[in-house]
Amino acid sequence: MDIVDRIKELREKIEYHNKKYYEEDTPEIGDYEYDLMLRELKDLEQQYPELATPESPTKKVGGKAKRGAKKIAHDVPMLSLDDRFSREEVAEFIAKIQNEVKDPVFIVEYKIDGLAVALRYRDGKFLEGMTRGDGVSYGEDITENLKMIDSVPLRMHEKLPYLEVRGEVYMNNEVFEAVNERQEEIGAKIFANPRNCAAGTMRQLDPNVVAERDLSILVFNLQAVQGKEFTSHAETLDWLTAQGFPVPKYFKCTKEEEVWDAITLIGETRGDLPFGIDGAVVKLDNLADREKLGASSKVPRWAIAYKYPPEEKATKVLHIEVNVGRTGRLTPLAILEPVRLAGTTVSRASLHNQDQIDRLDIRIGDTVIVRKAAEIIPEIVRVIKDQRPEGTVPFQIPDRCPVCGAPAFRGDNVADIRCSGINCPAQLARLIIHFASRGAMDIEGLGPAAVHSLMEKGYLKDIADIYYLKNHREEFVANGITPRPRKKVASDARPQKQKENPYQSSTDNLLTAIELSKDQNLERLINGFGIPNIGKHTGRILEENFPDLDAIAKIRYDKYKQLKDKEKQLRKERNKIEKTLKTSASPEDLERLNEVNKQLREVEKERKANGDIKGIGEVGIKAISDFFSEPQTKAILERLEKAGVNLKSRSSSNVMDNRLEGATFVLTGTLPTMSREEATRLIEEHGGRVVASLSGKTTYLLAGENPGGKLAKAQSLNVEVITEDKLMAMLV
Ligand code: IVH
Repeated sequence: MDIVDRIKELREKIEYHNKKYYEEDTPEIGDYEYDLMLRELKDLEQQYPELATPESPTKKVGGKAKRGAKKIAHDVPMLSLDDRFSREEVAEFIAKIQNEVKDPVFIVEYKIDGLAVALRYRDGKFLEGMTRGDGVSYGEDITENLKMIDSVPLRMHEKLPYLEVRGEVYMNNEVFEAVNERQEEIGAKIFANPRNCAAGTMRQLDPNVVAERDLSILVFNLQAVQGKEFTSHAETLDWLTAQGFPVPKYFKCTKEEEVWDAITLIGETRGDLPFGIDGAVVKLDNLADREKLGASSKVPRWAIAYKYPPEEKATKVLHIEVNVGRTGRLTPLAILEPVRLAGTTVSRASLHNQDQIDRLDIRIGDTVIVRKAAEIIPEIVRVIKDQRPEGTVPFQIPDRCPVCGAPAFRGDNVADIRCSGINCPAQLARLIIHFASRGAMDIEGLGPAAVHSLMEKGYLKDIADIYYLKNHREEFVANGITPRPRKKVASDARPQKQKENPYQSSTDNLLTAIELSKDQNLERLINGFGIPNIGKHTGRILEENFPDLDAIAKIRYDKYKQLKDKEKQLRKERNKIEKTLKTSASPEDLERLNEVNKQLREVEKERKANGDIKGIGEVGIKAISDFFSEPQTKAILERLEKAGVNLKSRSSSNVMDNRLEGATFVLTGTLPTMSREEATRLIEEHGGRVVASLSGKTTYLLAGENPGGKLAKAQSLNVEVITEDKLMAMLV
């Protein structure tokens, strides 16, 4: 591999792993391997400075030593809590403490479901913050991210020399829903619950993302303090509140009964909280007593966590709705008889995908058990089969999009079913944005804002409409494409030349960019169609192997399957004949063998014409075939062609298939529909050759009206004479 390629490969790999690590929170390789790649790239760029570019990941912050966050040592280990699951177990804990401590007071708090953090303050100012890390020696430095959280106080009111508090960074349920909606909109990872989202956000290294995601904090323990004395936990919480720290609500109890009541109350009202909790924490209030009791290597002896069983209720599936998201994903949604559950009324539950429906065998009319996953998201746990009414049938997500009717299908190795309709309103905006994006038709100025605005006003109903926007130039010049308030010109400004309408240049820039994009290659156009599983790479393969979009649009999956079967049969037959030929060679067998071989060659050619090309798999062929056999696709292609969008391949070979390979043609006379140039191109595109004069080696004379002397010559040379019709028949 040469240097240029290696550099390119390294950059692509590093960018990919940056994305996995920083954005998706799902790294695929270790730090060591990553560091080695970055080092090799740096060395190469130093050795060949002419190949260095400002976009290289070696030059960007994301790719620097930031990976693998800085570590900060814990002064005191960040412990976890022992879990309790029943009243008896809680009572046991209370009794034990009461045995060892005189008149203990207990504090009951929410156990907030987020990411454990420690914050340090020096002289009243926020110094640094860290995650739990290994819990014992080190946490990861998340100082910059913590500064982006509004509820983290950067200053305390009392300027004590030193303070460390511990708490939980979490995400409000509402914020979580909004983040996921946004993720879905941009086609990014959907987070399973607010906790994962909060943790993933804090762990990634761009503080701006933290700022965007609106996280919160609750502080539940004063870990270390200089310059102040406290005797009880409740006292510390009240003081922390006065210093500006958000602190969870707490219940002060002395008797076991009171503790249990507090736990029950928290449990009953947890659905009304704006954030998720994963239990209640019971703590001994007196700090000196805590000290005395101490801790094991993992958990303190003075506190426990009570875990609530998830609340479950029975209800009925009234209906199953299938919704189409902006990304075209079909999501089944169970419409339920409304039921109160953990604080809210639940009337719908996502069924996620067909696999989930099949696994639980959920049918319309079933009585089901619902609960809230991760405290907030309603889910169906199981079906009560013996309450199933008669006559129900298994539920199947339709194979047509409920919004536009186009085929919906399941991609390779994924559970999701997606709509493939090019015009589906549910996903049109996303498709148009993709079509105009850099990797596709690269239309500058046609980004999300312009697309949404043009769609809202009814100018864009499909991708072909882009090329007819020029008909509305005057309206855009008058009103703008994405109206923005115009800047006022100061009244004392010097009188100016009559200024051009500000919308005129932006309109013309966009219309010019659109015109220029008509000339893009087929690879980009195909990528722009957003066919599932068909991107730029497949676009290139198609462009290299077909002369134009017309030929690509003829790919049919059914035909391809038939041909594959036929080939299998023919091969079987050939093997059989070959076996027989080993013992006795009859002329019939030989003739049949020839025939089989001929048919095999034909099948192969036809298979290629139906998309069976190296680099395109069966899933790809199916997706292409489904897309192009849609009537709405045909209509759009026609309008693109009419608008002058390039639909021809630019690839060097331009050979569609080789079904005319080895054949030489001579043309004579006037053909009924084609010019000689057209006929020549057609023959060449299929691997044939066109020569000027006839000889004994000529395969065909393609003759039209007034063939002249060539016809007689061909006959005398025993060259087969064909008409245009025959030629066309050879090519279908
Ligand atoms: S007290 C020494 N109080 O739960 C024990 N922890 O499973 C300090 N948590 O690591 C923990 N809410 O991140 C305490 N009100 C609360 C809590 C709480 C959530 C988390 C915390 C801890 C984990 C233990």
